[in-house]
Amino acid sequence: MNAAILAVCKVAASRGIEVIGIERGYEGLLDAEFIQLTRTRSSGDLAPIKDVEDEAHTGGTILGSSRCMRFFDEANRAVGCKNMVEAGIEGLIAIGGNGTMAGAHTLAAECPQVTVVGIPASIDNDIGATANAIGVDTALNTIIAACDRISDTARSHRRAFIVEVMGRHSGYLAVASAVATAADAVLLPEEGRSEDEIMDSVEKVIRDSFSTDRHKSRVLIIKAEGVTVSAAKIAEVVDQRLTGAADVDIRATILGHVVRGGGPSFHDRMMAGRLALGAVNALADGADDCMVTWNTTTPGGAPTEDPRVQRFLLAHVLEEGVALADGSSDVTKRRMDRMRTVQGVLAL
Ligand code: F6P
Repeated sequence: MNAAILAVCKVAASRGIEVIGIERGYEGLLDAEFIQLTRTRSSGDLAPIKDVEDEAHTGGTILGSSRCMRFFDEANRAVGCKNMVEAGIEGLIAIGGNGTMAGAHTLAAECPQVTVVGIPASIDNDIGATANAIGVDTALNTIIAACDRISDTARSHRRAFIVEVMGRHSGYLAVASAVATAADAVLLPEEGRSEDEIMDSVEKVIRDSFSTDRHKSRVLIIKAEGVTVSAAKIAEVVDQRLTGAADVDIRATILGHVVRGGGPSFHDRMMAGRLALGAVNALADGADDCMVTWNTTTPGGAPTEDPRVQRFLLAHVLEEGVALADGSSDVTKRRMDRMRTVQGVLAL
């Protein structure tokens, strides 16, 4: 997100547009916690403040973030709108996931004085009408590095590891990293498997992989956190089932919030910059209640001067986000097809 904040500030400053940061997301909007993110130089030109420049290569967001329950109350949102109008804010760029976009859509309807544009940012990659969101590539690189390290020690000890990755209800991080790490299996919430089916499939993969004619020395199984049975329980149950089989050792590792930190990758910085340019252009065009999206195959977007960036109405983004989650989206159907293909190949 810091990369996007810097890019917004640079593009806006280059056009003489002042940028004010809203701290802690919608919490800070309700409490008018605003900070100047651009400053006026002696030449009269605008430039990003030092903090924005100094932190652009770090993870997270210098503005802070929140999950703001107060924002569900219309009276509170009216205060937020009033705070922006009184601060002279004419346009809002909301950077975040589905919750951020739902709030932005409501605000756009209730605060006509302010043009509202979203930039997708969530490691879960579960936002509608965009093939990618800020943070996904960095999270995947973190998972890959962690799994490579785990594989090093697994091979040395001839062990099976079940590694749990973030993603909330989405299996995207799990399946993308499973392919990239040549994992032996991946466990996804979208598959809707029962606990017994999960135990059976994990037992089978480990038994096959460590069979005498397979010559594998490590088994890596990546589990999405949305699969409710815990990695520890899977390790324990399958370990018991394999008691007596070839000396197999099973461990569980939960990567948790490690997946969400770290300096942004090249791809995330590049994408953040191009989405930020698209967002400032959308504000300048008065394109209210929309989100700029990346490289999407979802129909219904408006093109921009960047062939990878489109504008979608937030209502469409949110609708597609629901379809992504319930499996009716073409994107999810294609992802599930790829997941099924991957499942058949991973263990070979
Ligand atoms: O939505 C991003 C995410 O990291 C999910 O992958 C994860 O399930 C959730 O946030 C964790 O939320 P919190 O940091 O509030 O525990």
